[in-house]
Amino acid sequence: MPTQYHSTARYTSATAPGALPLLGHAPALLRNPPDFVAGLAAHGDLVRIRLGPLTAYVVCHPDLVRRLLTEDRTYDKGGIVVEKAREAFGNGLATCPAADHRRQRRMLQPAFHRDRLPGYAALMAEEIAATTGGWRDGDVVDVPAAMYRLSTAVTARCLFAAHERAGSLPVHAAMDQVARGVARRMVLPLPGADRVPTPGNRRFARARRDLREITDRLIADYRTAGTDHHDLLSMLLGARDEDGRGLSDDEVHDQVVTFLLAGMETTAATLSWAWTLLAANPAVRERLHTELDTVLDGRPARHQDLPALPLTARIVSETLRLHPPAWILSRTTTTATELGGHPLPAGATVLYSPYLLHRRADLFPCPDRFDPDRWLTTARPAPGIYTPFGLGARRCIGEAFGSTEAALALAGIAAHWSVTPTPGRPVRPQRSASLSPRPFTATLARRIR
Ligand code: HEM
Repeated sequence: MPTQYHSTARYTSATAPGALPLLGHAPALLRNPPDFVAGLAAHGDLVRIRLGPLTAYVVCHPDLVRRLLTEDRTYDKGGIVVEKAREAFGNGLATCPAADHRRQRRMLQPAFHRDRLPGYAALMAEEIAATTGGWRDGDVVDVPAAMYRLSTAVTARCLFAAHERAGSLPVHAAMDQVARGVARRMVLPLPGADRVPTPGNRRFARARRDLREITDRLIADYRTAGTDHHDLLSMLLGARDEDGRGLSDDEVHDQVVTFLLAGMETTAATLSWAWTLLAANPAVRERLHTELDTVLDGRPARHQDLPALPLTARIVSETLRLHPPAWILSRTTTTATELGGHPLPAGATVLYSPYLLHRRADLFPCPDRFDPDRWLTTARPAPGIYTPFGLGARRCIGEAFGSTEAALALAGIAAHWSVTPTPGRPVRPQRSASLSPRPFTATLARRIR
């Protein structure tokens, strides 16, 4: 059970030890990004790190994370992680400044309303069935790649339902390149490194152009047809602000790319990690199979089954605790301010890390242990402790969408398949802005109930 945090209201601040001349903490960060960041909590509640010429402040205490995320006029979207993301997301909901955010969020919120979830879930279930329909007993698959293909197909389908074969749109290849490019660039702390014409940077530029063309074409098709397809793109085109104004094509484009980028890798990573955790914890896997056999009795998982699958939901929550895909996020101060009694200059980069918070032993007993039953308690952790979807005005708009997709895919796959990673070295995270696992293979065995 997560511990409720009782603040002492005295917050410590420190500079992380081990900075090298010129490079600062960049080499230590690059060696093992999540563990370097998680280790900072040992030094204080607000810890300064240096990445080349840049000083950044890492917020390690849940009280201060709560302030950071709820005072969104003082701590605006910005800082290294967001600046790199803007290159691909443009001025979409995830990266726009607070000044644009309220209007955008109001316009987009209806697309993620609870009432729309069953419709999206039906499409998700179809894509999950299509994925597993191609599997054969004994197949060996690259798990992150397979989960990525599945979540891409789901996201593309829910965005562009009108395109019958949304799953095969060329958008997949372009998205893949853009997502990988963004992730790689966000972790490069050296200014200018991403402007060097390396093959990787050129691929990124080309993929961005392709993606632009594809989405522009889709937007034009939808505008010409003028029908409501009950998908995300129709919602975007129909959205109106208080003055009755809609989104321009550029704005729609940025939101489409935002949904694709924000939704695909996060959900794929969650599912990939879940398979590694279940394989390493056969007793939990056994209980999951029992839950699925009892409730589903061999038929595919549907949205209305989810309330009857509490262990499935706890496995998703616990996976997101151990491996939060959005593991490091940034803000920038709009003015000189203080946090926890410590001064911050205007324009400072302030980082928060769900991974750091989720691995604090004082917040989660035995934090490295996979224990879905820690979520059996009805008490929810205080805000700022469990933050896989962030908090405050910028909290994830796709939280219910992503959680539903992860639970349906976990249930839909585990009901019929055992996914057993090939024995060998433990699966490590990519060195990336999203906590995705490096490629690993697993054998698929059809379950006999
Ligand atoms: C397991 C899946 C997901 C995880 C872990 C996740 C995580 C997050 C986090 C941590 C944030 C807050 C970022 C910050 O504080 O700077 C966020 C924001 C956002 N997410 Fe998600 N996300 C997931 C799925 C999705 C999906 C499926 C979509 C869309 C289809 C989506 C769209 C967005 C958008 C648009 C924002 C920006 C919200 C705003 O600023 O108002 N996410 N997400």
